[in-house]
Amino acid sequence: MSYKYFHADRLRERVPQFRGTDEELQEAIDDLNLLYLSAIREVDIKLQILSDDFDMKHSYMPIHHIQSRLKSVESIMEKATRYGIEDPINNLDVVRREILDIAGVRVVCNYEEDLHTMSGLLLAQEDIELIRVKDYCNNPKESGYRSLHVVVAVPVYLVNRKKMVPVEIQFRSIAMDAWASLEHELRYKNKGELSQDIVDTLKESAELLHTVDERLSKIRHKVLNDENKYSNY
Ligand code: GTP
Ligand code: MG
Repeated sequence: MSYKYFHADRLRERVPQFRGTDEELQEAIDDLNLLYLSAIREVDIKLQILSDDFDMKHSYMPIHHIQSRLKSVESIMEKATRYGIEDPINNLDVVRREILDIAGVRVVCNYEEDLHTMSGLLLAQEDIELIRVKDYCNNPKESGYRSLHVVVAVPVYLVNRKKMVPVEIQFRSIAMDAWASLEHELRYKNKGELSQDIVDTLKESAELLHTVDERLSKIRHKVLNDENKYSNY
């Protein structure tokens, strides 16, 4: 996990509108970091436990790898402004309510069907609250992007309080992740501008990869054959 710490003296230059003292700014940012990093850890450990149990019971680990990131204060402020939140640095309560991807976890699974299995197992846990699901697997975005986005709230227990903290979890297959990473990099390198020709080719590639995902899933079931090990999940 990559931890990012922000220091008020440097941050102050970027958010001069903050009305409190440097110490208050530092406290607000530390509070944000602690809450959201803890929420990421909670989700990460829950998913690892599920994957380990799956391995114990079926000798198969559905999760290929997990990545996580905490949104930087600058991108939080940028997104808040884009969402029409006025004076976000002085209204962090509103920011916390409206911006649901401050904490982000990306779960890369081996097979497409694992995405729903893993999200289902996580959502079935009684301390997890579902906030929102965006199923770009069955309804891919115009770009060709596929992924299952689930926003949940997880409890974070601190010394004298419990907070439900939102985390955006993106469940992807290896193929979906490969496409999204390359497409993101291409877009980034070209400052978001890609010619129609490239956009079309990327979309076509996403569809080809989807076909590959489906084929691999079929092969997997053939190999498992009659055992039908995972039918209870
Ligand atoms: P934003 O985070 O501001 O985009 O709003 P949102 O959270 O409502 O949007 P969405 O649910 O579409 O999720 C956005 C995230 O999904 C992005 O930060 C990317 O990680 C990923 N994503 C969405 N669309 C694309 C796409 O076309 N290409 C790639 N590479 N990633 C995408
Ligand atoms: Mg986002």
